[in-house]
Amino acid sequence: MKVLAFAASSSSNSMNKKLATYAANLIPNATVEVLDINDYEMPIFSEDREKELGQPQEAKDFYQKLGNADAIVISYAEHNGSYTAAFKNLFDWTSRIDMKVYQNKPMLALATSPGPGGAKTVLTSATNSAPHFAAKLVGSFSLPSFYDNFDLEKGEIRDTELRNTLIELTKKF
Ligand SMILES: Cc1cc2nc3c(=O)[nH]c(=O)nc-3n(C[C@H](O)[C@H](O)[C@H](O)COP(=O)(O)O)c2cc1C
Repeated sequence: MKVLAFAASSSSNSMNKKLATYAANLIPNATVEVLDINDYEMPIFSEDREKELGQPQEAKDFYQKLGNADAIVISYAEHNGSYTAAFKNLFDWTSRIDMKVYQNKPMLALATSPGPGGAKTVLTSATNSAPHFAAKLVGSFSLPSFYDNFDLEKGEIRDTELRNTLIELTKKF
């Protein structure tokens, strides 16, 4: 199974990228590709820019990457209770190619942050809207207090209960 994993973050040292990579590699029989949304950076979306530029190649390429995958793992970073501007911009451009951005793929939605909230607010937004954008959610998982709960050296969740919860979700693909 071809699994596309990425963080909805443009941070070069993204904790969400670490979580997405870890989770994707837990999926049985997965061949994992980790994408960096920085490779799809575009001007800030506006309808005026769209008239001027049409559909940028980066948006087409991102849409195709999603389409070529058998399964998708996204970990959402939370900025001020919502999506990062970098991800929202990419999403907005891509949604103009096709509102069904996730193309009926099975998807695991994750989120983490340094605080105890574990980016749950953005995760709730993402999971609530997922069906609207044709994502077949297999589950969602928020990892609170990333630096306490994720072992950076081993690249895995330290807490047994949290780790087992995520492992169970990865079996649902
Ligand atoms: C502008 C800004 C706003 C943030 N807002 C939130 C927030 O609302 N909730 C939260 O849990 N963390 C917030 N954070 C902290 C991020 O969770 C933290 O920077 C985290 O590393 C982002 O994930 P990433 O490493 O995958 O980019 C914010 C950080 C920035 C820079």
